[in-house]
Amino acid sequence: MAKLHLITYGCQMNEYDSERVAGLLRERSWELTADEAEADLILVNTCAIREKAEDKVFSKLGELRLLKAQRPDLIIGVMGCMAQLHQGAIQRRAPVVDLVFGSPAIARVGELVDRVRRDRRSVLETGEGPLVKITARPSSAGRLKAFVTVMEGCEKHCTFCVVPRTRGRERSHSPATIVDEVERLAADGCREVTLLGQTVNAYGRDLTPATDLGELFALVNEVDGIARIRFTTSNPYNLTPKLIRAMRDVPKVCEYFHLPLQSGSNRVLERMNRGYTRERYLELVAEIRDAVPTMAFSTDLIVGFPGETEADFEQTLEMVERVGYDNVFVFRYSRRPGTPAAGMADQVSEDVKARRNTQLLETATRVGAERSRRLAGQTVEVLVDGTSKKSPGELAGRTRCNRVVNFDGQGSVSLGDLTPIRITEALPHSLRGTLASQPEEAACLSK
Ligand code: SAH
Ligand code: F3S
Repeated sequence: MAKLHLITYGCQMNEYDSERVAGLLRERSWELTADEAEADLILVNTCAIREKAEDKVFSKLGELRLLKAQRPDLIIGVMGCMAQLHQGAIQRRAPVVDLVFGSPAIARVGELVDRVRRDRRSVLETGEGPLVKITARPSSAGRLKAFVTVMEGCEKHCTFCVVPRTRGRERSHSPATIVDEVERLAADGCREVTLLGQTVNAYGRDLTPATDLGELFALVNEVDGIARIRFTTSNPYNLTPKLIRAMRDVPKVCEYFHLPLQSGSNRVLERMNRGYTRERYLELVAEIRDAVPTMAFSTDLIVGFPGETEADFEQTLEMVERVGYDNVFVFRYSRRPGTPAAGMADQVSEDVKARRNTQLLETATRVGAERSRRLAGQTVEVLVDGTSKKSPGELAGRTRCNRVVNFDGQGSVSLGDLTPIRITEALPHSLRGTLASQPEEAACLSK
């Protein structure tokens, strides 16, 4: 059997796409290998969101050139967002690449690879394609947690973002195909699904009949075996009262909400073309906490967007305190080709971005730690998904609010179980706990 090695950069959607590619190629007798040195085909799934992500890919392609020098038959392919954005320029900069294809062409990966092998010349495929739900998965896919892409593309025009160009128009998959995929995952032992889309809370509006994410939650909630539903990424602009009700009412939907803010300054939000103000965002947070008091929030923030002043930045810091995020992802603004913000005159220096990045992370870490401490002493539901990184004798899992908990399973719980854990200690990056149904506690309760 010929061997395939996959290298994946970027977001969860890329991880999902890589799995599809592995599954599709498996149907054509390609076997996955973890060792790039023994591969006949290496596919690099790429991310174009920031320049740093692209630099990583080109440096990896530089390494692969050495491998190919030893093994001239090796085929090297670049797929995903960089492929879509830069097209032929990739092969010009890295001639080692034999195959370039964007996400619309994933369904035809087998045919594209065959073409390279047969014709012995490079192939470039970055056209738009029909929307297909690929259900193929690699054989090793039996696992506790899985991503499920529910919609492709993005039609927002955030002035910093390249995604609408790399991932095309917004298109939702039908509820039936999604439920079918979740049922198959559940049959293979999957316990948690994360529904993916660039603006996942706009799911379904392009379908006939139109539907929405709340209705999809209800359908996925019915799938036996699935214990938890997560979803990402939501855009504040598209958040509806109906979705907030669904988050409250659909039992398997977890109390963790990733709601990118990007900036705390109205002036910057407007220049980003995000379509909401800080006041509107705070109003939404209040409505959600009103419906689901235990909701944990996470967010994405950009520092050093063109024209961002010290006063704008301070408003971002203030929003982190006000919302009380559990988790914050901070990005330094990166100029992306073809986006409106790349042409804005008042670009911020890298030094200033670096300083704001550090300062924002300090605030976010402190706020996140305060949120974590609130859990001490509480008993929470944990989905057991592995062993503790530090002490392999112990089990690890996540709370519904997505925090890692390490605990001694005492031989009585297994992977995939939902188990009540009493949190004994809140550390900066994880929690420690004990089984809440330990005999001595049970005794206490029966007094
Ligand atoms: N659809 C998602 C965003 C996907 S990109 C949403 O609406 O939020 C993931 C994150 O990368 C964004 O939320 C943003 O914070 C960051 N990002 C996107 N473009 C960027 C750029 N040019 N420079 C720095 N960060 C960027
Ligand atoms: Fe990008 Fe904005 Fe869409 S951040 S992915 S253009 S919602």
